[in-house]
Amino acid sequence: MFHSTTGLPHLLPPRAYCDEAWAAKENVGPLYQAWHLVGITSELAKVGDFLTTEILGEPIQVRRFQDGLAALSNVCAHRHCLISSHKNGHSESMKCQYHGWEYGSDGFNRKIPSAKDFAPLSREQIRLPSFQVDTCGELVFVRLSSTGISLQEFLGPVASKMQVGFGPSTCCFLKWEVNYQANWKIAIENSLEAYHVQSVHPNTFRSDPGESRSEHRLDPLHTAFGSDLPFAHSKLDLTFQKWEGRVVKFLGGSPTRRYWQHHVFPNLLCSYTDAISLVHYVIPISSMSSRSLVYQFGICPDRPGLKRSLAKLWGRLEAACTKRILKEDVEMYPRIQGGLKASKQLGRLARSEERIHSFQEYLTRQLSNAAPQASAVTSDNSIAEKKPIPTDCPIKDSCSTAHTPTSPLTSEMRYEDGDKRANSPGDFT
Ligand code: FES
Ligand SMILES: [Fe+2]
Repeated sequence: MFHSTTGLPHLLPPRAYCDEAWAAKENVGPLYQAWHLVGITSELAKVGDFLTTEILGEPIQVRRFQDGLAALSNVCAHRHCLISSHKNGHSESMKCQYHGWEYGSDGFNRKIPSAKDFAPLSREQIRLPSFQVDTCGELVFVRLSSTGISLQEFLGPVASKMQVGFGPSTCCFLKWEVNYQANWKIAIENSLEAYHVQSVHPNTFRSDPGESRSEHRLDPLHTAFGSDLPFAHSKLDLTFQKWEGRVVKFLGGSPTRRYWQHHVFPNLLCSYTDAISLVHYVIPISSMSSRSLVYQFGICPDRPGLKRSLAKLWGRLEAACTKRILKEDVEMYPRIQGGLKASKQLGRLARSEERIHSFQEYLTRQLSNAAPQASAVTSDNSIAEKKPIPTDCPIKDSCSTAHTPTSPLTSEMRYEDGDKRANSPGDFT
């Protein structure tokens, strides 16, 4: 069942999805404080394994050193070359591809070819910025901010599910990374409602499960959607759910036939059935382009044999189905962005879209409270930059007049065209 008894206001105006200044404020606020999914531990299994990524314009190398995982700036302190431009790989040391400067897990320089030519510079004066890194199950996360909540706190109720769903008795069956021309919130909000299912997934799902089969949880930093399986009644979904129950039983489990999807604010989505666990992380590249990183894991017995072979076959089939559904969604994102660029309206939310409202309310609150951010750990001679400090709230008009966080159903909306209307059920009939 839904919590709201009426339709809801769309709290973010179209410019929240298009404007660079708005994006900059998100980047120094909620996104800067968040934990970001960068990879999985099996990609970083051996000492010398590394991966590179870019989070909010910050090039980062995550690497397994003798003393564990470290996340360091991937920009060399010599003359700013990317230390590695490979997405992932293995090398004996963290060595810059340009002139060969080398770095340790603490970010301090370990080696400079022809070091005497830099005299009187000492290696102890050179240090790469470092970032917080932590894991949950196999998932590896990085936080840009040097202060903030732990990964466990950030994940909240999802942490324990993640430990199991991406834990030791599972295998990774899908890794998918995709860039698209759309604001990051478009991808997130699309995942928070099933209203689009009939139009966007006519063959894979066909129909929305409906209110009677939907359970919503709306917390201050997280929302969730639960439903009994089958999720919908397409042939594909019915077949998958029937067989998933049988596979889980054969592997020794007790099927609950329950589906849960969680949104950890601001940009992490995770979903679970009895057999599979999916994580979908979304990060902005610019105000109108983003990247999604998806991993799907499935139950997978350790011992070789019939059970393991069946689990692997099942995992691959589920992964193919997931990718097909995600592609259907991703195709929609630029079309939504195209409309947002031109829209003069604020939009509306149905009761069934109340998780979007909760997310928008969270974001509005975060942007109103955006505080100065500390920079990452840096060396004495680094160009440690304080992140820009938001001087005013980008949505101050709507903060002061558009809604009351404690009473969203009785709020009043100020529309982009200046028209001020009461948010009453009658508005949405
Ligand atoms: S730029 Fe890295 S060693 Fe010169
Ligand atoms: Fe979808």
